[in-house]
Amino acid sequence: MDKLRIMSVFGTRPEAIKMCPLVRELAAREGVESLCCVTAQHRQMLDSVLEVFSLKPDWDLDIMTPRQTLSTITSKCLTGMDEAIDTLKPDMILVHGDTSTTFAGALSAFYHQVPIGHVEAGLRTYDKYSPFPEEMNRKLVSSLADLHFCPTANNRGNLLREGVTGSIFVTGNTVIDALKTTVREDYRFSTDELNHLPYSEKKILLVTCHRRENYGEPMRNIMLALRQLAEENRDVELVYPVHLSPVVREAVDRYLRGAPRVHLIDPLPADEMHNLMARCYLVLTDSGGLQEEAPALGKPVLVLRRETERPEAVEAGTVKLAGVVQDDIVTMAQRLIQDRNAYAAMAHAVNPYGDGQACRRIADAVLWHFQRGERPADYQG
Ligand code: UD1
Ligand code: UDP
Repeated sequence: MDKLRIMSVFGTRPEAIKMCPLVRELAAREGVESLCCVTAQHRQMLDSVLEVFSLKPDWDLDIMTPRQTLSTITSKCLTGMDEAIDTLKPDMILVHGDTSTTFAGALSAFYHQVPIGHVEAGLRTYDKYSPFPEEMNRKLVSSLADLHFCPTANNRGNLLREGVTGSIFVTGNTVIDALKTTVREDYRFSTDELNHLPYSEKKILLVTCHRRENYGEPMRNIMLALRQLAEENRDVELVYPVHLSPVVREAVDRYLRGAPRVHLIDPLPADEMHNLMARCYLVLTDSGGLQEEAPALGKPVLVLRRETERPEAVEAGTVKLAGVVQDDIVTMAQRLIQDRNAYAAMAHAVNPYGDGQACRRIADAVLWHFQRGERPADYQG
């Protein structure tokens, strides 16, 4: 029997962190040739993840330009994917989540009539413009996909209500598989500054912020809130690996740089980031991935957004929506910094997003689709 050619397509940092373990899992399966096509929507931040997971792509579209627009990302991906698909001839294409790479990868697969598996399917806010453009990207991909790999039962419920066609699996999120390979108690950071942070004497606040819907006024408010928190709390150190987006870097330079107790550093390799998260006190972020990782590590999260498509950890009590108003963010963070009971109520490890077996379930489901194995049992949460 010919080997199945399963091609994973991704381009940004979070997609890479969540897809590299799956590319590996597929490569370990007899009867599968695991192919990897990167768009490089992100260049340096993608390459950093590929290095951590020792993965060499089979195809690289190398599309990134500074201050790229949504249209240029999408059109460059579409054009580049034609040649990748014609040359690599995949039997199935796997895309992840909700980025422009994801949408263009799925659309291209559809144009070539290649079956599509959507990893991290079914997340929704039901607000077309928030997150922008991700909410619409993932809805469009749900219409195109044949196999939907939902992290949680709640995500499956969203797809069932929308009446999507194809097969739906509840698998857990592959980010938990990734975390299991990166976090270690005896970890030493190659960014030496992180080895010397006062983890026991002070409260380390880990921050990230990059979302397009936060550009402008919301990002200004967030930066000013972070500045106020650092200025008013001597027992706090704020560590912020700043995204390479020039829009984000300008906001950071304008409103946050120079504040006391603030460490502005370059984006961290995934293993460094995961281990820093495991040692920090509190996470403030607008990132999707951090909302999944931090709860698994027992770290409270304040989400710097108005909504979230990840309600599971909010329900479990480890994540709270802080919004994008300066006073609200400061008040909620101050409470967690000063009130031990409020902190303890949130700082307990819960794992609504997976058990580290998501990649195994997804690989099983792919083989099942081609009648080469049993249908995997759903992740029960
Ligand atoms: C993208 C995704 C978003 C995801 C985020 C993860 C879309 C529309 N957005 O947003 O869903 O949450 O990635 O980080 O797909 N840059 C570099 N080097 C890099 C990466 C980025 O220089 O390695 C700069 C470039 O100038 C680029 C800009 O950052 O133009 C913005 O990157 P882009 O991928 O367009 O959007 P993000 O906001 O990062
Ligand atoms: N991350 C990283 N280095 C950093 C910041 C984040 O490796 O300096 C990881 C983080 O642990 C998570 C992922 O990147 O796994 C989240 O990516 P991002 O916040 O860029 O995108 P989102 O999840 O919001 O789509």
